[in-house]
Amino acid sequence: MAKVPVQFTLNGEERAEFVESGTTLLKALREKIGDMSVKGGCQQGTCGSCSVLIDGELRLSCLTLAETCEGAAIETTAGLAEGGVLHPLQRAFNEGFATQCGFCTPGMLMAARALLDSNPQPSREDVVDALAGNICRCTGYEPIIQAVLTAARANSVNAA
Ligand code: FES
Ligand code: FES
Repeated sequence: MAKVPVQFTLNGEERAEFVESGTTLLKALREKIGDMSVKGGCQQGTCGSCSVLIDGELRLSCLTLAETCEGAAIETTAGLAEGGVLHPLQRAFNEGFATQCGFCTPGMLMAARALLDSNPQPSREDVVDALAGNICRCTGYEPIIQAVLTAARANSVNAA
Protein backbone atom coordinates (compact mmCIF):
# COMPACT_ATOMS: atom_id res chain seq x y z
CA MET A 1 0.00 0.00 0.00
CA ALA A 2 1.25 3.52 -0.83
CA LYS A 3 2.85 5.51 1.95
CA VAL A 4 1.87 9.12 2.34
CA PRO A 5 3.67 11.86 4.27
CA VAL A 6 1.83 13.61 7.06
CA GLN A 7 2.95 16.36 9.42
CA PHE A 8 1.18 17.46 12.57
CA THR A 9 1.94 18.41 16.12
CA LEU A 10 1.42 15.86 18.88
CA ASN A 11 1.11 17.45 22.29
CA GLY A 12 2.96 20.48 20.94
CA GLU A 13 5.79 18.52 19.34
CA GLU A 14 6.28 18.59 15.55
CA ARG A 15 5.94 15.16 13.93
CA ALA A 16 6.63 14.21 10.32
CA GLU A 17 5.74 10.63 9.45
CA PHE A 18 5.08 8.39 6.49
CA VAL A 19 1.94 6.32 6.99
CA GLU A 20 0.29 3.73 4.79
CA SER A 21 -2.71 5.26 3.11
CA GLY A 22 -5.80 4.22 5.06
CA THR A 23 -4.01 3.94 8.42
CA THR A 24 -6.13 5.17 11.29
CA LEU A 25 -4.79 7.87 13.56
CA LEU A 26 -5.17 5.39 16.45
CA LYS A 27 -2.82 2.94 14.76
CA ALA A 28 -0.38 5.65 13.70
CA LEU A 29 -0.20 7.12 17.21
CA ARG A 30 0.31 3.77 18.91
CA GLU A 31 2.30 1.72 16.43
CA LYS A 32 4.24 4.37 14.52
CA ILE A 33 4.80 7.07 17.11
CA GLY A 34 4.58 4.99 20.28
CA ASP A 35 2.00 7.11 22.10
CA MET A 36 0.46 4.21 24.04
CA SER A 37 -1.72 6.58 26.08
CA VAL A 38 -4.32 6.25 23.31
CA LYS A 39 -6.38 3.09 23.77
CA GLY A 40 -8.13 1.08 21.10
CA GLY A 41 -11.26 -0.67 22.29
CA CYS A 42 -14.04 -1.37 19.82
CA GLN A 43 -12.15 0.10 16.83
CA GLN A 44 -15.51 1.04 15.32
CA GLY A 45 -16.53 4.29 16.93
CA THR A 46 -18.71 3.11 19.78
CA CYS A 47 -16.62 3.02 22.97
CA GLY A 48 -14.77 6.34 23.09
CA SER A 49 -11.55 4.87 24.48
CA CYS A 50 -9.53 6.19 21.54
CA SER A 51 -10.68 9.82 21.94
CA VAL A 52 -8.14 12.54 21.22
CA LEU A 53 -8.35 16.27 20.57
CA ILE A 54 -7.72 17.41 17.02
CA ASP A 55 -7.48 21.19 16.75
CA GLY A 56 -9.30 21.34 20.07
CA GLU A 57 -12.19 19.12 18.99
CA LEU A 58 -12.94 15.74 20.49
CA ARG A 59 -12.47 13.07 17.82
CA LEU A 60 -12.34 9.30 17.68
CA SER A 61 -8.89 8.31 16.48
CA CYS A 62 -10.14 4.88 15.34
CA LEU A 63 -12.41 6.61 12.79
CA THR A 64 -9.89 9.25 11.71
CA LEU A 65 -7.38 8.55 8.96
CA ALA A 66 -3.88 9.71 9.89
CA GLU A 67 -3.40 11.22 6.43
CA THR A 68 -6.30 13.64 7.06
CA CYS A 69 -4.45 15.18 10.02
CA GLU A 70 -2.02 17.20 7.91
CA GLY A 71 -1.23 20.43 9.76
CA ALA A 72 -3.40 19.53 12.75
CA ALA A 73 -2.66 19.97 16.45
CA ILE A 74 -3.31 16.60 18.10
CA GLU A 75 -3.54 16.21 21.86
CA THR A 76 -3.59 13.00 23.87
CA THR A 77 -3.48 12.22 27.56
CA ALA A 78 0.29 11.80 27.24
CA GLY A 79 0.43 15.60 27.03
CA LEU A 80 -1.95 16.42 29.88
CA ALA A 81 0.58 16.61 32.71
CA GLU A 82 2.90 19.61 32.55
CA GLY A 83 6.37 19.70 34.04
CA GLY A 84 5.67 16.52 35.98
CA VAL A 85 2.52 18.02 37.52
CA LEU A 86 -0.70 16.15 36.88
CA HIS A 87 -3.54 17.98 35.14
CA PRO A 88 -6.41 18.77 37.57
CA LEU A 89 -8.52 16.16 35.78
CA GLN A 90 -5.86 13.49 36.27
CA ARG A 91 -5.56 14.43 39.93
CA ALA A 92 -9.31 14.33 40.45
CA PHE A 93 -9.62 10.96 38.69
CA ASN A 94 -6.83 9.58 40.84
CA GLU A 95 -8.05 10.95 44.15
CA GLY A 96 -11.71 10.22 43.39
CA PHE A 97 -11.12 6.55 42.45
CA ALA A 98 -12.53 7.27 38.99
CA THR A 99 -10.09 4.78 37.48
CA GLN A 100 -10.31 1.05 38.04
CA CYS A 101 -8.91 -1.02 35.15
CA GLY A 102 -8.04 2.29 33.49
CA PHE A 103 -8.81 1.26 29.95
CA CYS A 104 -11.48 3.93 29.43
CA THR A 105 -9.57 6.60 31.35
CA PRO A 106 -7.62 8.25 28.49
CA GLY A 107 -10.79 8.68 26.45
CA MET A 108 -12.71 9.92 29.48
CA LEU A 109 -9.96 12.42 30.27
CA MET A 110 -9.92 13.81 26.75
CA ALA A 111 -13.72 14.06 26.62
CA ALA A 112 -13.66 15.84 29.99
CA ARG A 113 -10.84 18.11 28.84
CA ALA A 114 -12.86 19.10 25.75
CA LEU A 115 -15.84 19.84 27.98
CA LEU A 116 -13.91 21.99 30.48
CA ASP A 117 -12.19 23.88 27.66
CA SER A 118 -15.56 24.95 26.26
CA ASN A 119 -17.54 25.02 29.51
CA PRO A 120 -15.29 25.51 32.56
CA GLN A 121 -18.17 25.26 35.04
CA PRO A 122 -20.39 22.47 33.75
CA SER A 123 -23.46 21.15 35.50
CA ARG A 124 -23.75 17.47 36.32
CA GLU A 125 -26.00 17.08 33.26
CA ASP A 126 -23.36 18.76 31.07
CA VAL A 127 -20.79 16.24 32.31
CA VAL A 128 -23.11 13.29 31.70
CA ASP A 129 -23.81 14.55 28.17
CA ALA A 130 -20.13 15.15 27.43
CA LEU A 131 -19.18 11.63 28.51
CA ALA A 132 -22.11 9.92 26.81
CA GLY A 133 -19.89 8.54 24.04
CA ASN A 134 -17.42 6.95 26.45
CA ILE A 135 -18.10 3.50 27.86
CA CYS A 136 -16.75 2.35 31.23
CA ARG A 137 -17.23 -1.25 32.34
CA CYS A 138 -15.89 -0.79 35.86
CA THR A 139 -16.83 2.32 37.78
CA GLY A 140 -20.57 2.75 37.31
CA TYR A 141 -19.72 6.25 36.00
CA GLU A 142 -20.51 8.20 39.18
CA PRO A 143 -16.88 8.55 40.37
CA ILE A 144 -15.94 9.76 36.89
CA ILE A 145 -18.72 12.36 36.83
CA GLN A 146 -17.75 13.53 40.31
CA ALA A 147 -14.07 13.73 39.33
CA VAL A 148 -14.87 16.00 36.39
CA LEU A 149 -16.95 18.24 38.64
CA THR A 150 -14.13 18.29 41.21
CA ALA A 151 -11.60 19.30 38.54
CA ALA A 152 -13.93 22.06 37.35
CA ARG A 153 -14.20 23.38 40.92
CA ALA A 154 -10.41 23.21 41.33
CA ASN A 155 -9.96 25.18 38.10
CA SER A 156 -12.36 27.89 39.26
CA VAL A 157 -10.55 28.19 42.62
CA ASN A 158 -7.19 28.44 40.83
CA ALA A 159 -8.57 31.01 38.40
CA ALA A 160 -10.08 33.16 41.21
FE1 FES B 1 -12.47 4.18 18.89
FE2 FES B 1 -13.82 2.45 20.41
S1 FES B 1 -11.74 2.34 19.78
S2 FES B 1 -14.49 4.40 19.64
FE1 FES C 1 -12.31 0.00 33.57
FE2 FES C 1 -13.48 2.31 32.95
S1 FES C 1 -12.14 1.91 34.61
S2 FES C 1 -13.45 0.50 31.78
